[in-house]
Amino acid sequence: MVRHFGQTVMSPGILFLVWITLFAHSVFPQAQQPDVAPSSDATPSATSSMSGSSSASQAASTTFVFVSGTEIPSAAVTSSSAVGNASTVAPAVATVTLVVSNHTNPLYTYNYTSGIQINNTSPGVNNSFSPPFYPSPETRGKGNWTFAVEKARTFVAQLTLEEKVNLTTGVGWQGGRCVGNIPPIERVGFDGLCLEDAPLGVRFADGVTAFPSGLNAAATFDRQLMYERALAIGEEFRGKGVNIALGPGMNGGGRVAASGRQWEMAGGDPYLAGEAAYYSVKGIQDAGVQACAKHYILNEQERNRTTSSSNVDDATMHEIYLHPFLRSVQADVATVMCSYNLVNSSWACQNSKALNGLLKHELGFQGQVLSDWQAQHSGVGSALAGLDQTMPGDVTFLSGDSYFGANLTMAVNNGSVPLARVDDMAVRVMAGFFLVGQDEGFPAVNFDAFNPNGPLNEHVNVQEGHAEIVRKVGAASTILLKNENGTLPLRKPKSIALIGSDAGPPIRGPNGYPDRGGVDGTLAMGWGSGTTDFPYLISPLEAIQRRAIIDKTLVDWSLNDFDLELAASTVTGVEVAMVFLNSDSGEEYINVDGNIGDRNNLTAWHAGDDLVLAVANVSSNVVVVYHQPGPVNMERWIEHPNVTAVLLAGLPGQESGNSLVDILYGDYNPSGRLPFTIARNDSDYPAQLEYINTNLDPEPQVDYKERLNVDYRHFLSSSISPRYGFGYGLSYTSFNLTNVQLHSLDQSALQVRGNYWQDEAFTAANATNEVGSSLSKALHTPRWAVTVDVQNVGGVYGCDVPQLYVAFPEGSGEPPRVLRGFERITLEPWQAEQVRFPLSRYDLAIWDTELQRWRIPEGDFTIYVTSQSAFDENPLSISLPSDWLPNGKGDDIYAW
Ligand SMILES: *[C@@H]1O[C@H](CO)[C@@H](O)[C@H](O)[C@H]1NC(C)=O
Ligand SMILES: *[C@@H]1O[C@H](CO)[C@@H](O)[C@H](O)[C@H]1NC(C)=O
Ligand SMILES: *[C@@H]1O[C@H](CO)[C@@H](O)[C@H](O)[C@H]1NC(C)=O
Ligand SMILES: *[C@@H]1O[C@H](CO)[C@@H](O)[C@H](O)[C@H]1NC(C)=O
Ligand SMILES: *[C@@H]1O[C@H](CO)[C@@H](O)[C@H](O)[C@H]1NC(C)=O
Ligand SMILES: *[C@@H]1O[C@H](CO)[C@@H](O)[C@H](O)[C@H]1NC(C)=O
Ligand SMILES: *[C@@H]1O[C@H](CO)[C@@H](O)[C@H](O)[C@H]1NC(C)=O
Ligand SMILES: *[C@@H]1O[C@H](CO)[C@@H](O)[C@H](O)[C@H]1NC(C)=O
Ligand SMILES: *[C@@H]1O[C@H](CO)[C@@H](O)[C@H](O)[C@H]1NC(C)=O
Repeated sequence: MVRHFGQTVMSPGILFLVWITLFAHSVFPQAQQPDVAPSSDATPSATSSMSGSSSASQAASTTFVFVSGTEIPSAAVTSSSAVGNASTVAPAVATVTLVVSNHTNPLYTYNYTSGIQINNTSPGVNNSFSPPFYPSPETRGKGNWTFAVEKARTFVAQLTLEEKVNLTTGVGWQGGRCVGNIPPIERVGFDGLCLEDAPLGVRFADGVTAFPSGLNAAATFDRQLMYERALAIGEEFRGKGVNIALGPGMNGGGRVAASGRQWEMAGGDPYLAGEAAYYSVKGIQDAGVQACAKHYILNEQERNRTTSSSNVDDATMHEIYLHPFLRSVQADVATVMCSYNLVNSSWACQNSKALNGLLKHELGFQGQVLSDWQAQHSGVGSALAGLDQTMPGDVTFLSGDSYFGANLTMAVNNGSVPLARVDDMAVRVMAGFFLVGQDEGFPAVNFDAFNPNGPLNEHVNVQEGHAEIVRKVGAASTILLKNENGTLPLRKPKSIALIGSDAGPPIRGPNGYPDRGGVDGTLAMGWGSGTTDFPYLISPLEAIQRRAIIDKTLVDWSLNDFDLELAASTVTGVEVAMVFLNSDSGEEYINVDGNIGDRNNLTAWHAGDDLVLAVANVSSNVVVVYHQPGPVNMERWIEHPNVTAVLLAGLPGQESGNSLVDILYGDYNPSGRLPFTIARNDSDYPAQLEYINTNLDPEPQVDYKERLNVDYRHFLSSSISPRYGFGYGLSYTSFNLTNVQLHSLDQSALQVRGNYWQDEAFTAANATNEVGSSLSKALHTPRWAVTVDVQNVGGVYGCDVPQLYVAFPEGSGEPPRVLRGFERITLEPWQAEQVRFPLSRYDLAIWDTELQRWRIPEGDFTIYVTSQSAFDENPLSISLPSDWLPNGKGDDIYAW
């Protein structure tokens, strides 16, 4: 009999029909060494702040402009202007003119204040990609931000220009106790700000918890668990005195399977990543810590991340990559981190379209944008394009120079940057501080990131009871891929043999490699700035042996990955042979066995696939356990008849072995689902890393040619059958889905899922081009609901994850189906529940590149509901006919 934590098992055979409303999720509202990338800096000439560079790139046709290689003028860093002479006093009105160029030639001249193009110095040159967007929208103090922005304005009003500038400029690499530090302003009693990695716990500190990875949290498909994990993480940051926690991560959009940092992120589907982002931001900020949505934007791989341009079309940008950031803004995220890469040939941290246009205008983001560590490439240009804070503050680590700091002060005084922009930068920095209540009773920094054994580390222990949530999320995120004839759960086996180094404790200890850049035992975290130090690490070997005491099971092992003979003899005659595999990845600044962040292959490390085959040669009951940072290729053994069960455990954190035992022995019924698709062939994934031509282009072009077809969308649209599809995962029980229904909702009674802009204008038909238009209330209020009855038809309790996919009308240009809902529910044997999926206008909208707004395409929609995966060939379905939509067409999606 299986049971789950804290719940008594109900007797089977009784039918409980429980009606629940699941759409009001708001009831549980939910780096470097900071992204330290010693950058090889093959960057185009970084223009000094005094010369007033600007990121404005070319003008743009906003319809699909796919730009490839040579057509692109390299990064649009440019020269220009300032009206007025250098002085010690900022001009009352600065009239800033921007000259936009492509390294060699000036192309356009812009009036910053009006955002109007004055002239085109190279008429006929159509190298359009990242359109300019000026001026930088000022924060407005809407919704939950009203008091925070008011307080921030009052605070900033008493500051001198130098003090305001100090709020925008980190003190420099290793210049303080945290990975990023804003200096104090003692005159007004402000203690400064501490910024610290990582998305899964406090980095460079002791007395902290090593939580499961972000990808594991996504694999739970459980909003409540995402929230609980983030709340616990937030509490630890607060306990250490950290103002800004550098997470959650929300890249990993499902294009590159080998992408190094995807274990820090939330999987290959933007809707899932958006929910994970929302509940992670809520959790961290409910603990009183500012969250940081990162990395903005299109930082989808480690390879050449500091030199390459990610080139994407407008619709894909909105529908795939921007969505998790939209959900973060709806969760009132305080800060956003701009990324290393260029976006359509303009650096992400000085890309006015991305920062001013998408983030601060369309999404109405009210907090601050801070740079990834050393991701800034200009002073005036980045300030005008919407960057609010430079991290860690120096141009390159320890260079002693800054684009901001004294140079920003000078730029204001000579009229290159309007004083109003610096005021807005300072207000945005302080607004996040007040938003989460850090002005009252916030703990002082009590650790010392770069000097852990020094006198400033007070060794404050902040772990509380968080090991319990680590263990629970670890179990809930473990995905059962194969389970022949009820191999699992284990029932008091007489004997078990554990094979492979991943079963045992790391030889050098859990923190033996700096920033976890190496693996010589069980793998529970990837490498890079997204790491914490483990306080301890429970290996599978330890946890299984503790269980063996109870069951009187004989346990033997061989932890040598390469001794195939020893492996074979160890499992001979043993009831259950378990082979442990891993595959690791991380951040670019560490090279592990030739893997420079991204993985060089998708197969097991240390010849693990050979180990499985050697064991399967002698044992007919082989259970494979995989610890991995993303999709893996299991083709060499997955169909082997002796491989009877396969568990994908991801990177589960410090309780790894315990979480695994909960699953293996049925104390926790597996319910983790794949947050990405596993292909049969590596070439089946939508995009590949370029492993060749590494030394040619100084600015490699990464063209997002697959457009909307990331992860399962690509497999579906190209009719490629995956090994295991997105959303897939088995249970020890089974579920029946019946009775799918569609309901039109009375809007007056409904709540928006997340915060929104409350201006009346945004409910009006024509108000699409306003600040916050993509967060309009009308767009996000649930308009329809789909219900389905789910029943547990097996003998044990279990959790099911019904998923809702939308098929857009023919001809709308969308992939065959896209995720727009999921719920994880727990059911006792024979218990049934109705699950309700809300659908807003936004959920059915596509980004219209010509209208520059969200639009519901004309035609009939089909809604699919399934517990299987995106690839279920017989899902329940219901159609949403066009006459349910206003006027039979969706041009105006607000007026009905
Ligand atoms: C900052 O200003 C100083 C003095 O004008 C100048 O030498 C330096 O190049 C500037 N630094 C940057 C990064 O613009
Ligand atoms: C910049 O634009 C000019 C036309 O004004 C063009 O001749 C030149 O090749 C472009 N430079 C680059 C680096 O693309
Ligand atoms: C720029 O636009 C602003 C606002 O429309 C206007 O006041 C200013 O005169 C313009 N400056 C120039 C140089 O055209
Ligand atoms: C474009 O405008 C700038 C700034 O007003 C001026 O310096 C430049 O001469 C103009 N170029 C052309 C071709 O009109
Ligand atoms: C600004 O910060 C620097 C340290 O980064 C400090 O030396 C300086 O005194 C500060 N200036 C003001 C006006 O607070
Ligand atoms: C599972 O059971 C079926 C039917 O009893 C049998 O044919 C098959 O060989 C079994 N598979 C394994 C892996 O034991
Ligand atoms: C894949 O990469 C890992 C790590 O570098 C290495 O151990 C393994 O041998 C590689 N696999 C193959 C098939 O090359
Ligand atoms: C791209 O990355 C590869 C592998 O790290 C490196 O060899 C190459 O120099 C990089 N190219 C650029 C332009 O950064
Ligand atoms: C933020 O605003 C939403 C409504 O817009 C409200 O439901 C929520 O409680 C607010 N959150 C906080 C922390 O005030």
